Amino acid sequence: PTRPYVIEEMISAKTIAARIEALAKDIHDAFEDTDKLIVVGLLRGSFVFIADMVRELDLPVEVDFIEASSYGNSTESSREVRILKDLRGEIQGRDVLVVEDIVDTGYTLKHVVGLLNAKGPKRLKTVALLDKPSRREVDIKADWTGFEIPDEFVVGYGIDFAQRNRNLPYIGAVRFLEDEA
Ligand code: PRP
Ligand code: MN
Ligand code: MG
Repeated sequence: PTRPYVIEEMISAKTIAARIEALAKDIHDAFEDTDKLIVVGLLRGSFVFIADMVRELDLPVEVDFIEASSYGNSTESSREVRILKDLRGEIQGRDVLVVEDIVDTGYTLKHVVGLLNAKGPKRLKTVALLDKPSRREVDIKADWTGFEIPDEFVVGYGIDFAQRNRNLPYIGAVRFLEDEA
């Protein structure tokens, strides 16, 4: 259904792992005094990042998920964030860390942060593995960012192109093969 493409490695699995270790230390320091940190992953893209992140976080942690979707099978944001699955647990008065794979236009993270803040958490912070600041359309920035990247369509480490390539262990850039005909 999509044009043929190849994937060029952009950020290696090793580089990602080292960055997550450093992020986890910073997050630990920010929430050091917490009785429990509720780590909320945004499905589906963050499933790999949250799995690696919580295993580096030396804190009492509860894991929860929200499913938000704005891209569907398109490369273009719909700018309408649909919540397909809400949190299981309560976050009122709790410490919350939202874990997102990538901030692009910013609609997804901004929408979810707005919804969660309305529930009255004690502290709410956000971490995104990737940030594409050149694509931002709404005013939002994660409290912690793994890597700032240029405006490239990326896949892997949880991130899909039309639901494919989420299982790549690294972050890659999609390169479309031009028709030679
Ligand atoms: C992707 C990605 C982020 C969001 C970022 O999710 O995982 O959640 O888009 O884009 P934005 O900043 O422009 O909103 P997608 O809607 O593709 O759902 P998925 O996580 O299930 O792939
Ligand atoms: Mn997503
Ligand atoms: Mg997607």
